[in-house]
Amino acid sequence: MEKRIIVAIDGHSSSGKSSMARQLAQKQNYLYIDSGAMYRAVALYCLRKGWIKGTLLDREALVEGLKDITISFSTTDKGLPRICLNGEEVENEIRGMEVSGVVSLVSAVPEVRSYLVDIQRSLAENKGVVMDGRDIGTAVFPEAELKIFLTASADVRAERRYLELKEKGMEASYEEILHNIEMRDRMDLNRTISPLRKADDAIELDNGRMSIEEQNAWLEARFNEAVYGKNRN
Ligand code: DC
Repeated sequence: MEKRIIVAIDGHSSSGKSSMARQLAQKQNYLYIDSGAMYRAVALYCLRKGWIKGTLLDREALVEGLKDITISFSTTDKGLPRICLNGEEVENEIRGMEVSGVVSLVSAVPEVRSYLVDIQRSLAENKGVVMDGRDIGTAVFPEAELKIFLTASADVRAERRYLELKEKGMEASYEEILHNIEMRDRMDLNRTISPLRKADDAIELDNGRMSIEEQNAWLEARFNEAVYGKNRN
């Protein structure tokens, strides 16, 4: 039987990790897991509970309430993953600016991280998984056979996010998105637990000037090397 591996794709917000990861998973018939969506779903839960006021999070309430949060994934007819919070599909709600503005508060809480990391590991028990996030190659799967670290400038990423939201008919201003991306970069890089950093054995890719097709071809080549070895003809 063909070797099945774990692919960890980490990088900054809106660096294109998700589309790259999803495309590879589809092509290889692997499971795709968007770990950021899990943090976003927990943030949505906190907003709904009124545990976030401005930039203040009621950590105690969240830590106490974690046991009541169930995160799972369903799949659309087209095979696209949809995140569910306590059984309710919340894919669109978690992508809006409200959740984006507060998710870093939630992802900095150690209890939230260990709760979600346990779920992430259990989803990859049988390997054959592509997971994207910030700490997948460093903390969740340090043993992953293929690790990618994706980067692009904040301007390029804001522009992409702006077009993505516009396409979905969601409201957003470019300046607000850029500001949010810069803020999340700072928080992701500076938090004490599992900060965003490249794993020593990760392959770095700056995709600022690459088309989606180029990126996908690049990733497929790295995937084949990881599965079949570098010298395969
Ligand atoms: O990839 P994203 O923008 O959807 O992630 C949402 C937030 O979750 C982001 O601010 C950082 C955090 N996150 C994290 O801390 N660890 C992960 N593995 C994935 C996301």
